[in-house]
Amino acid sequence: MKSTSVGNFFVSSPQIKKTRELEMMTKRIVAVLFGIVSASCMYAESALPLIHNVMAYESSSLAGDWNYIVDVQEEGYYDYRMNPTRWGFFNNAKPKRPEDLIEYDFDKSATMRIPSDWNTQDERLFFYEGTVWFKKSFQAVPMQDYRTLLYFGAVNYDCHVWVNGKKAGHHVGGFTPFNFDISDLLREGENNVIVKVDNKRHREDVPTQIFDWWNYGGITRDVLLVKVTPVYLEDYSCSLTPTPSPKGEGSKYRTIAFSARLNKKEAGHKVTVSIPELKIKQTFITDAEGHVQCSMINVQSKKLQLWSPENPKLYQVQISLDASTIADEIGFRTIETRDKQILLNGQPVFLKGICLHEEKPNGGGRVNSTEDAHTLLTWAKELGCNFVRLAHYPHNENMVREAERMGIMVWSEIPCYWTIAWKNPATFDNARQQLTDMIRRDHNRANIIIWSIANETPHSKERDTFLGNLAKYARTLDNTRLISMAMEVTGASTYVTRLTDNMNEYVDVVSFNQYVGWYRDVNDAPKMRWEIPYNKPVIISEFGGGAKYGLHGAKNQRWTEEFQENLYIQNLAMLDKIEGLAGTTPWILKDFRSPRRVLPGIQDYYNRKGLMSDKGEKKKAFYVLKKWYEGK
Ligand code: GCU
Repeated sequence: MKSTSVGNFFVSSPQIKKTRELEMMTKRIVAVLFGIVSASCMYAESALPLIHNVMAYESSSLAGDWNYIVDVQEEGYYDYRMNPTRWGFFNNAKPKRPEDLIEYDFDKSATMRIPSDWNTQDERLFFYEGTVWFKKSFQAVPMQDYRTLLYFGAVNYDCHVWVNGKKAGHHVGGFTPFNFDISDLLREGENNVIVKVDNKRHREDVPTQIFDWWNYGGITRDVLLVKVTPVYLEDYSCSLTPTPSPKGEGSKYRTIAFSARLNKKEAGHKVTVSIPELKIKQTFITDAEGHVQCSMINVQSKKLQLWSPENPKLYQVQISLDASTIADEIGFRTIETRDKQILLNGQPVFLKGICLHEEKPNGGGRVNSTEDAHTLLTWAKELGCNFVRLAHYPHNENMVREAERMGIMVWSEIPCYWTIAWKNPATFDNARQQLTDMIRRDHNRANIIIWSIANETPHSKERDTFLGNLAKYARTLDNTRLISMAMEVTGASTYVTRLTDNMNEYVDVVSFNQYVGWYRDVNDAPKMRWEIPYNKPVIISEFGGGAKYGLHGAKNQRWTEEFQENLYIQNLAMLDKIEGLAGTTPWILKDFRSPRRVLPGIQDYYNRKGLMSDKGEKKKAFYVLKKWYEGK
């Protein structure tokens, strides 16, 4: 990421600014006239389509100390009649005359480091769910031929953004990036960005009201001022097609499919893709839609190293649009299924996985850095893993890219978790937007092999329609990867468990969670039989049990390491008998914070199903799984 620390940035020409102010003034008069909307709802507040590979662009990071105001009753947004007020905190107002009444002052307010969550930075906010305002000041200088995008890696959950008191936009969803064009809101010299963040939970949200992880609030990932040309590469795709090149001669040649899309529907722009190491350089011209339609580039098979856990080869790829060039690191591989097998580069692969939440390696708090990602993924590698299930929401881009460099395949998921409001169209739009942005951000990552659209959702017609539409939609965005979801099994009889789920027809891999040994007796394990009537690969997407690190005792004594150890021994022997088992992702690498886990002295607001403690200490079961993976 070519980012500079907070410093000078560029503003667009005064003329453009004049017209925008005029435009806003007329809109405001109209709205007030009709008294239909309050100040803040005047703008269509959706974000621009997500810019792909933002790390490749020149940018200035706004990471650092931000002032914050905890606003339990949203005094800074609503008036006492609960109407959005135009005198809100987004004005960053200061008293001009001695008698002026301004009852907030960001610059005299406390600061916290961004990106991060507020729960682990201010102990008063440990359990806090509500609104917190953030303000950051930065310098900007004039810039004629460029635009400025304000990019957020993620903000949990509902956030409104203003720049210099003017609305930049609104975003909902805590785990996917978004960006606004703020070029016309910037001024030369001192600027400020103000963000209202609200992480209160609601029935219609995604995730919905209850979930078994900590509802960390705040600006949890990078905030960047990104410099782009007025016409820029909004997205591009560069991936290996499954079949040998139509050039014939068997698999002597392979085909790389390349496509691109500009942010503007403009024809005639030159887009050149070059992969120096493969001596590939091809130029395309955009069509009237501003697209480079999918074009095939042949490459000699013997020259192409395929990405795999054993050889996570990434190629330097340059993509230039007219005079500007961005770079990316892309791996080439194919992922498919054949009956009950998962094929990586045409070869059957067993997914030796583990689940993990996006929490710091030591203690709680959202993780965002490559270093922390490396630590967590190194622990997964110590377990013998070649695969991780990033639960239950898209993790930060540093985690995904570090896993790609380390040769770890990834299951990436959107938080359609437990009982979502299936009948609510706004909930569907929200879920679809999160799915869009998850795929938009990471579709060039070779290590992502599975997009997951849900976890443990109850069977119903509405749910099937909701998730069925999501699965079909995901394939329109990316037909090069496998689709799955974590299903639930139903007991056919005491020792026979059956997986019957209408969603099987929408997924490539049938995955399910089972908790023999924890939510049912471990002694059932040897007697268990699994009926999975689908000719598709099977992944056990969760199994496991809790243990308090350092607590020892009999193997039937819950919470002891011996209990968890025995549970793993019994489960692994049981799973070995499942026909078509193509992978496992036990629950979970490390103990993680959850407001649902309140047992004193044992849980203390941690889910203790980790194979490691919240401080990264290995429990006995860690070594049971490690040994099993050595045999896979
Ligand atoms: C569920 C769920 C997890 C949860 C786990 C548990 O299967 O998917 O999010 O933490 O069970 O009960 O520990």
